[in-house]
Amino acid sequence: MKEDNENSSSMVPSTLEICCIGAGFVGGPHMAMLAYKCPDITVSVVDVDSKRVAAWNSDKPPIFEPGLDEILGLVRGRNLFFSTDIKGGIYRADIIFMCLPTPTKSNGLGAGFAPDLKYIENSARQIADVSDSGKIVVEKSTVPVRTAESIRRILNANERNARFQVLSNPEFLAEGTAIADLENPDRVLIGGDESLEGTQAIGKLVEIYAKWVPRERIITTNLWSSELSKLTANAFLAQRLSSINSISMLCEETGANVDEVAEAVGADSRIGSKFLKSSVGFGGSCFKKDILNLIYLCESSGLSEVAEYWRQVVVMNSLQRRRFSSRIVKELSNSVSGKRIAILGFSFKKDTNDIRESAAIYVCRDLLKEEASLSIYDPRALSEEIKNALSIIRSEAGLRDKIETVSDPYQACSGAHAVAVMTEWDEFKELDFKRIFDSMKKPAFLFDGRNILDLKDIEEIGFHAFGIGRSSEKA
Ligand code: NAD
Ligand code: UGA
Repeated sequence: MKEDNENSSSMVPSTLEICCIGAGFVGGPHMAMLAYKCPDITVSVVDVDSKRVAAWNSDKPPIFEPGLDEILGLVRGRNLFFSTDIKGGIYRADIIFMCLPTPTKSNGLGAGFAPDLKYIENSARQIADVSDSGKIVVEKSTVPVRTAESIRRILNANERNARFQVLSNPEFLAEGTAIADLENPDRVLIGGDESLEGTQAIGKLVEIYAKWVPRERIITTNLWSSELSKLTANAFLAQRLSSINSISMLCEETGANVDEVAEAVGADSRIGSKFLKSSVGFGGSCFKKDILNLIYLCESSGLSEVAEYWRQVVVMNSLQRRRFSSRIVKELSNSVSGKRIAILGFSFKKDTNDIRESAAIYVCRDLLKEEASLSIYDPRALSEEIKNALSIIRSEAGLRDKIETVSDPYQACSGAHAVAVMTEWDEFKELDFKRIFDSMKKPAFLFDGRNILDLKDIEEIGFHAFGIGRSSEKA
């Protein structure tokens, strides 16, 4: 009954087989690292999206991550296989990783806060249907506390009476540094059932990670601590960003400089210097959704004050984005109608092509509502995805005609009234801003949403320049 399809027919026999369901930003890089570090394990990554699978099997993977292509070159076709054969992958596997989306629910109970667990549930049902023996099922997606219980209930209701162990092994990689994070993680967290079988399952997963992660960095806990730790880690990280961004607003009103404040505050070893870079606002597919998830959990647990506390992290982030777009409008004589604004960077951070929840989306939507024309350049984000992200307001008077995506930063800025730096791509620091200034309408404005440019140099060229968390132009 072991099925092979065209993508997996070359699989070599192995003592241990792993199947990862979901070939996305987590599943792809994580399994590439696992296959690289464990050549004796056969890893198949399966996905319903045949285009994505085809891209993984081509020389243009669907995800840009520094270092990923090199690892893929070593392991793909050796012990790493991408396929749409989900049933076959599940059937053969000893261990199954669920790397499935958990987006915020848009309808029904908990809409706007609770995660939609339908992808997890559907996969659990499929595992239960297809498996003819018990397996270890690893929850890698970020989920609410006690999701493992729901998964276990579905799995153990299978008709063959197979017994499954469910582990929680949340992922902590950040996009843009995924390969380095996976190769040298601060910690690997594994939560499991406290029974003998649960402990044995934890032990098996620990053995795999121990092939490259020092044991002291592998933390084992009960299931619920592990699930909650992931939500808490993201909430703490996002909270730091909202904290420094809230202070950036005060800096703008008082003459303080937020980068100087962050440096002084971060020098305290109890606080630390990481994750204190003020910006136009955090983006990415997870921070907002995971905090909303936490808020929902708090509310469902009757902890409305706790929920309110975390809600402010999200409120502050929206405010920071809105302040940035309002500032552009205000400085351009209170109107950007008919004006051309160059947008440099659209991904939610540098070194990724991911635009999910990017601050650029919100700022661009605000500017389009004010009837600006946008000329957008990003080194990696796809033009189609950028346009789709902005199409929400297309119906409002055909605004789509006002968006242009270009493949050259100088072209984006030529003829523009203002430039807005939305992503901290290194190449933006190297641009010839004199050339950009000469090609723009005057007066020329520059808004640095990432504080990556030396505004004094920019002003010397002739720009009216503004950053985040500085009191005013020339401050
Ligand atoms: P993603 O959307 O990039 O990938 C998910 C993949 O699952 C998609 O390719 C989709 O086609 C596939 N899929 C959906 N339903 C399926 C099914 N029934 N069978 C097979 N494949 C199916 O998502 P992601 O960014 O990889 O995130 C996955 C999870 O990991 C989320 O819970 C997220 O919160 C968490 N996470 C993400 C990151 C990150 O950096 N993106 C980091 C840590 C944790
Ligand atoms: C984040 C966490 O850092 C990961 O540990 C976690 O696994 C992941 O979410 C997840 O669960 O998806 P990621 O969103 O990929 O990773 O990237 P981050 O480096 O955390 O950046 C998030 C956002 O914050 C970006 O928009 C970034 O530009 C912004 N940021 C980050 C700042 O504005 N200032 C900083 O100092 C750091």
